[in-house]
Amino acid sequence: MKSINDLGDLKGKRVLIRCDFNVPLDGETITDDGRIKAALPTLKQLTEAGAKVVVMAHLGRPKGEVNPKYSLAPAAKRLGELIDAKVTLAGDVVGESAKGAVAGMAEGDIVMLENVRYEPAEESKVDAEREALAAKYAAFGDVFVSDGFGVVHRKQASVYDVAKLLPNAAGHLVAKEVEVLKKLTETPERPYVVVLGGAKVADKLSVIDNLLKVADTLIIGGGMGYTFQKAKGYEVGTSLLDAEKIDTVTGYMKDAEAAGKGLLIPSDTVVSPSFPSGDGPFEKTTVASDSMPADQMGLDIGPETAKAYADAIMGAKTVFWNGPMGVFEVDDFAAGTKAVAQALADTDAFTVVGGGDSAAAVRQLGFPDDAFGHISTGGGASLEYLEGKTLPGLDVLEGN
Ligand code: 3PG
Ligand code: MG
Repeated sequence: MKSINDLGDLKGKRVLIRCDFNVPLDGETITDDGRIKAALPTLKQLTEAGAKVVVMAHLGRPKGEVNPKYSLAPAAKRLGELIDAKVTLAGDVVGESAKGAVAGMAEGDIVMLENVRYEPAEESKVDAEREALAAKYAAFGDVFVSDGFGVVHRKQASVYDVAKLLPNAAGHLVAKEVEVLKKLTETPERPYVVVLGGAKVADKLSVIDNLLKVADTLIIGGGMGYTFQKAKGYEVGTSLLDAEKIDTVTGYMKDAEAAGKGLLIPSDTVVSPSFPSGDGPFEKTTVASDSMPADQMGLDIGPETAKAYADAIMGAKTVFWNGPMGVFEVDDFAAGTKAVAQALADTDAFTVVGGGDSAAAVRQLGFPDDAFGHISTGGGASLEYLEGKTLPGLDVLEGN
């Protein structure tokens, strides 16, 4: 990959950059601005060089429709506070507002386009549709910089197609992430333990077979744990469940056993009558995983599971963690995530925490960033990298 230092003198040039500003929000308040801070080294270098910087980013999954709930306004505001440059949010993605804002830029200014996922073509499976949108993005830049590491696993117009239309380079964040993750794929010290949790159950269930090949032990918690519990024949009540994947998951358990790999699933679970909303404390009970009440929902791993997971982590030389163990945003259901975070902080192993929610969790629970070897801004992206997959957003960059 080329670096932004290879792009020559950028003074007065329009630099189109993809960032990942998909930050966790509580209403309009950003609860973890780690992804915005992680973009600053590249953005500062560009603005200080006198470039006109046009930022493309997404927030959530608005599925091709304009929806104020997914506006990048909070991210644009926060970026403006963190950087010594004028930051303007366009009122649309590639419409008149965006065109006007880009045309009016001075050297060192930043214009952020609205959520690229407001455009239906951004995530289209039809190449020609994405390419047509990418051409509109490309009209905003003289060069393209890819720095949204969290989204490089997506073959989307602002990540993949646009890179084919302009001279391009990787930003400092993408370069740094790749350097660390490369170490994990090439020479991980063993035992190598991967801890998986979180709510994007369908996405993550499909990476498990590959992770089972690289890791010695796979630890499962969070939303995807219930599909495993169901596959064992247990009641999971109203918990998150990917019913279509039950057979696949049964296969994973057999494969792991045949390969002599550890595959740990929760032996106890914290349940509650419904998903917590509003102020706690909330009603909760700890039950054995094979005895969940049919009318309750699992919201965290139980203490026995937390202890077993912490022990497995303490025995490892390399640990990769992606996805919280429960609804950590709510105190009542944060204990499992906290126990895993504590074990990662305590162990002498090389530890990598990946993903927006996991990074938010460790910060929200009060752990300093330097308690971990590396906090990756990519969740799905870092997982797919570790699986050994080709990531479209990296593959497309010049020099690869
Ligand atoms: C993330 O939060 O993992 C990235 O921003 C990618 O988001 P996505 O999973 O909705 O594509
Ligand atoms: Mg995420």
